[in-house]
Amino acid sequence: MSLSLGLIGNPIGHSLSPWIHTNFLEKANINGNYRLYEGDINKLPDILKKLRQNNIAGFNVTVPYKQTILPYIDDIDKDARVLGAVNTVLNDNGRWVGYNTDGQGYVRSVITANPSILNKDTKILMLGAGGAARGIYRALVNQDVNRIDIANRSEEKAIDLLHLNNREVKSDFIDFGTAEENLGDYDFIVQTTSVGMKPKQDNQIIKLDHLKKNALVSDIVYQPITTQLLKDAKFRGANIHHGHAMLLYQAQLAFEIWTGEKLNVENMLQPLEQKLR
Ligand code: ATR
Repeated sequence: MSLSLGLIGNPIGHSLSPWIHTNFLEKANINGNYRLYEGDINKLPDILKKLRQNNIAGFNVTVPYKQTILPYIDDIDKDARVLGAVNTVLNDNGRWVGYNTDGQGYVRSVITANPSILNKDTKILMLGAGGAARGIYRALVNQDVNRIDIANRSEEKAIDLLHLNNREVKSDFIDFGTAEENLGDYDFIVQTTSVGMKPKQDNQIIKLDHLKKNALVSDIVYQPITTQLLKDAKFRGANIHHGHAMLLYQAQLAFEIWTGEKLNVENMLQPLEQKLR
């Protein structure tokens, strides 16, 4: 029997998920397929009907369905519920269970490349407070870290994000100016906005003049692979973490939810980077 997996969203024609999961299936020696189910926003019930008919074992959810899928699933993981967004669904004997692997996948990608980065002394600065930031913030709050400050253009969105802090980790909103000035306080900087993404790849969200020596700078933008922010950080001798790692590790976690297989995927980073170039 073949394991049916897939992705729903629109547009998804350029998605790398089929490439990633087909490789995972091969690695895990599982006979299966990963198909694209593309459709516009008011076609969601039709798409889901098709998935049921295909006896889908699990699927990923992307824009514009991450929130609108919620009423159609039977059960939801706690973090996904709190985030109000699902990117992975498991068919558990006919019951559809929703998860969100973006934030945890991101944290896995960081820890795999930098095993000692997250510890009780780590001070984190997060840039941005949008949809992507929410999952990452929630996953970081669940690590044993010293503090996580959020710098964002709009204060309101950042304050909203602070409500996801269920462990009373020290965490405050700061503006970009303060972030630049106090940058030397932070061990780990994670950039979650779209600033620096093609075609505006020359843009850099903050200046790094006061960057701490040996800090880790991470950018979730993966087009270009090395953003201006990462170039600048590298130039200053910092460690950097590329955005495509998150893409790979959110998929690793989704695949684990569907199959129980936690694959070693680190050797796929390089080929994924080639695909994105
Ligand atoms: P996503 O789901 O991809 O995270 P989003 O929810 O629209 O997208 O969030 C975009 C994030 O990028 C927000 O933090 C946004 O800042 P605001 O909350 O102030 O809107 C940030 N952002 C986008 N363009 C920006 C820019 N030119 N300068 C600074 N921040 C920007």
